[in-house]
Amino acid sequence: MPLNVPPTAAREPAGARGERVYVKSFGCQMNVYDSQRMTDLALAEGYSETSEIADADLVVFNTCHIREKAAEKLYSELGRARETKEARAAGGRATKLVVAGCVAQAEGKEILRRQPAVDIVVGPQNYHRLPDLLRAGARAVDTDFAVEDKFDALPAQRSRGASAFVTVQEGCDKFCAFCVVPYTRGAEISRPAGKILQEIERLAATGAREFTLIGQNVNAYSDADGVELATLLARAAKLPGVLRLRYSTSHPNDMGPALIAAHAEIESLAPYLHLPVQSGSDRILAAMNRRHDAAAYLDIVAKVRRARPDIAFSSDFIVGFPGETDADFEATLALVREVRFASAFAFKYSPRPGTPAAEAGDQVPAEVKEARLAALLALLETQRQAFNRETLSRRFGVVFDKPGRHEGQLVGRSPYMQGVHAECPPETAGRMTQVEIVEVGPNSLKGRLV
Ligand code: 5AD
Ligand code: SF4
Repeated sequence: MPLNVPPTAAREPAGARGERVYVKSFGCQMNVYDSQRMTDLALAEGYSETSEIADADLVVFNTCHIREKAAEKLYSELGRARETKEARAAGGRATKLVVAGCVAQAEGKEILRRQPAVDIVVGPQNYHRLPDLLRAGARAVDTDFAVEDKFDALPAQRSRGASAFVTVQEGCDKFCAFCVVPYTRGAEISRPAGKILQEIERLAATGAREFTLIGQNVNAYSDADGVELATLLARAAKLPGVLRLRYSTSHPNDMGPALIAAHAEIESLAPYLHLPVQSGSDRILAAMNRRHDAAAYLDIVAKVRRARPDIAFSSDFIVGFPGETDADFEATLALVREVRFASAFAFKYSPRPGTPAAEAGDQVPAEVKEARLAALLALLETQRQAFNRETLSRRFGVVFDKPGRHEGQLVGRSPYMQGVHAECPPETAGRMTQVEIVEVGPNSLKGRLV
């Protein structure tokens, strides 16, 4: 049971007239989505949004626990928030301080103990209860995995421009040896396909055009009726207004034949796949409990390329996992050279309390991790630039939705997530518009309407 929540909290709005909410998001896309949903929740309770913490009556930090020093960073952030809260109090204004997300889940009441200015600690599965917690008024911790479906308790998601995230799956049953997600986000659950499609339909009706279906293990999606991700994507693609689909993040072992075929069959499925491999060394992959080897990964890449020849790949890598030798690291570089990634993330291994790898005796020295990270990032950057150059003269659809730097320009995303700007008449906004790439910069592309 959450602490301090009366079973029947009075149902008046949690925010008074004119009160403002400030939400700061750390970490992954799932957290961005959750932050938006918490904002929607606060708006439904009468708050309005502010981007200035000093103006906020309600402050929410939606935290990430995936890598080093997350908790330490949070405590220094909270120290600053406490000063803001005290300054506001001196001016006669109260501030409620909420810690949400994965550090909240992992640290729980320790946060209330270490920072007395914090009012509420709420986990990623429980944030729909935030209005009740606020109404109850007392300091509270709510990190028990909720039994009810939080999505049923949330107000409808507002569209925020042409691109929208929709959570379809949460949690993870894979237990990679480095990862906290199975502990902070719990076991894999998939939302019912019907509810997801309703959410997409509603977002499309209010202007969203590009949809990213997200989950910690999105390609393991399988709802109670046995609907799998390939089917969900096919159904979503048929909804009016859905112009482009993506999904993230996937595990190689869940790239089944139906999903690979979906890349050939679904026109609006972007030819871009974020498929983390973490390492190119079979020994390290085994130690990571990834349950596939480098050859299996390369085989999937080849199959998806056969299904969709214009596909590009991105990945996550960890360098300096316990026991990683120079030869193991060379195997990672070799895999990168073989696949040629359009973009990728790379991280130094960070021991996470409670995960098996954190206990391993053969931790890699910090300076070795540093050097390997620099070498890997340099190689990945070369590949990213090469990929960007290959898009020169290519034609593809872009949904322009934001004003560009110059008058008359709009900005949108290529199928490969590159920023594209072009001179556009205003009526192109929110439509799929064909462009030819006429210039390639280090961080964005310039297009010409065709
Ligand atoms: N140390 C470093 N990187 C990690 N990741 C997950 N856990 C750790 C860790 N303990 C990386 C993985 C994952 C991405 C989201 O974060 O590469 O795919
Ligand atoms: Fe960070 Fe993982 Fe939590 Fe996302 S799910 S916020 S990446 S710890």
